[in-house]
Amino acid sequence: MSHTKPIRKAVIPVAGNGTRFLPATKAMPKEMLPIVDRPVVQYAVDEARQAGIEHIVFVTGRNKQMIEDHFDVNPELMSSLSRAGKSAQLSELIDMLPTAGSVSFTRQQAPLGLGHAVWCAREMVGDEPFALLLPDMVSHGERGCMAGLVELYAETGGNILGVEQCAHEDVSKYGIVGVGDTVKHGFAVTEMVEKPNPDDAPSNLFLNGRYILQPSIFEKLADQPRGAGDEIQLTDAMVALSKSETFHAHPYQGRTFDCGCKHGFLEANVAFALARADMNELIFDSLKSMIASHQRGFGSA
Ligand code: UTP
Repeated sequence: MSHTKPIRKAVIPVAGNGTRFLPATKAMPKEMLPIVDRPVVQYAVDEARQAGIEHIVFVTGRNKQMIEDHFDVNPELMSSLSRAGKSAQLSELIDMLPTAGSVSFTRQQAPLGLGHAVWCAREMVGDEPFALLLPDMVSHGERGCMAGLVELYAETGGNILGVEQCAHEDVSKYGIVGVGDTVKHGFAVTEMVEKPNPDDAPSNLFLNGRYILQPSIFEKLADQPRGAGDEIQLTDAMVALSKSETFHAHPYQGRTFDCGCKHGFLEANVAFALARADMNELIFDSLKSMIASHQRGFGSA
């Protein structure tokens, strides 16, 4: 096993505009949209904790106050639940509360891109490797994706990327990696290409929004000119860093839903509901009858 500094902190950027989900995200942060009964951002926090991470750094922005409130106590609600004898709901809220001091917030003053959001966390992260979870990419599987990245990191050190297979024609939507030598929990990354043409793509393995990065990424981000969409792109900084540091990738065995778009969000709600013992029969029956009525022509012109 290589000698590596432990991963103690996770950065979760939540300052984006969520334009793909308008008008729902005009006043409501997309990270607070619910998958079944929990906001999207809660899944990322739970996944980081499952991977052994102690401290969460949120990069937040204007109109995102609701996210801070979600991770704070709500004394009025708690006493009202207690008075009403709703102990199950009360203990669920208590269990979800982060321990005092284990969550920090910093502000990105303008949404200048994911790379810029990560750079805003530099003082809070300090000189140590850190996890990065994009909360709108929601892991669904026996365990969250980040635990696998931490295992690969213990094996190889350096920088680690979560990846997953996509259909050949979909590679132009994502960051795609080239596949090098195999290691126990993944493989060495030979190249990273943002949204390649399917015919030029090095593989069909896309970056699924889970990273472990060395603090040297902050220097690359500081020097990074604006890239695609006039935003400071994380992938551009990672490509620059890959000239001097190793990158490995961990193929996630579960599935990641892109909850930043309407289709992925709806799919995630169905998948998570079907996986829940208290809901699966109900949802399965509802879906069956909706599909049957759709096939009979309900709703068609
Ligand atoms: P996305 O690119 O999915 O978020 O970034 P977005 O920009 O809000 O999406 P659209 O394209 O307008 O619909 C992934 C994560 O990074 C955060 C987002 O909040 C999201 O959780 N992010 C993105 C920032 O914090 N700041 C940014 O400048 C951009």
